[in-house]
Amino acid sequence: RLSKNLFCERDLSSTLFCLKPCPVFGNMNQFVGLGLFVDTYPNADKTHDRTFPYVSVMLGNGTLTYDHDRDGRTTELGGCTAMTRNSIYDTFLLVRYSKNKLTLMVDVDGKQEWRDCAEVSGLRLPTGYYLGASSVTGDLSDNHDVISMKVYQLTVERTPEEEEEEVVTIPRVDDMYQFQVDVEEEGMSGLQLFFTLLFSVLGLAVLAVVGLVLYGRWKENKRKRFY
Ligand SMILES: *[C@@H]1O[C@H](CO)[C@@H](O)[C@H](O)[C@H]1NC(C)=O
Repeated sequence: RLSKNLFCERDLSSTLFCLKPCPVFGNMNQFVGLGLFVDTYPNADKTHDRTFPYVSVMLGNGTLTYDHDRDGRTTELGGCTAMTRNSIYDTFLLVRYSKNKLTLMVDVDGKQEWRDCAEVSGLRLPTGYYLGASSVTGDLSDNHDVISMKVYQLTVERTPEEEEEEVVTIPRVDDMYQFQVDVEEEGMSGLQLFFTLLFSVLGLAVLAVVGLVLYGRWKENKRKRFY
């Protein structure tokens, strides 16, 4: 598929040519396909809701736009923190796509075991995959080497209904609602509000008890002085 945007073009063999650095980790924006981002730097610095490096998943359908200034929060389907920077261990990402379910796991702590990172169900990718890797940096730069990329075909049993599922041409997620995030919101979340209230009430209770004890002592002392 020949696609085009301001900075990058694909030729007929799908090789990407960029005239300027491309905005989405070195790739074009409004891309079509599954994007897995290993982001080492927070751009939305007001939002301290996650620790970087952060690995995230996005499904591009040609119109969805990755928002660089919000580190892609608006289009993110899932993700996790993964310490892939300056690591003394080899770091691994595992992506499994089977029966419309995408599972992302990481192994970055040198323990040789997979840790769950994200799971997206109802995800539909067209067939005919191309795999690619790209990167870009602003002012800060590190060396990150992609040592290998291994691809396996999974053998799965399918029910007749699953065999008859429609083949999509544009990637999509069946239930986009589950991922809707309101990044504008700067106020407290329900849970934060609950704990703030709880601790306020507890604090007041403690103050009241201390006050009563002190008042009792003061009264006692006063009585002793009078009699
Ligand atoms: C891409 O996804 C968005 C959000 O679900 C939707 O509004 C838009 O219509 C989709 N575009 C295409 C080409 O399917």
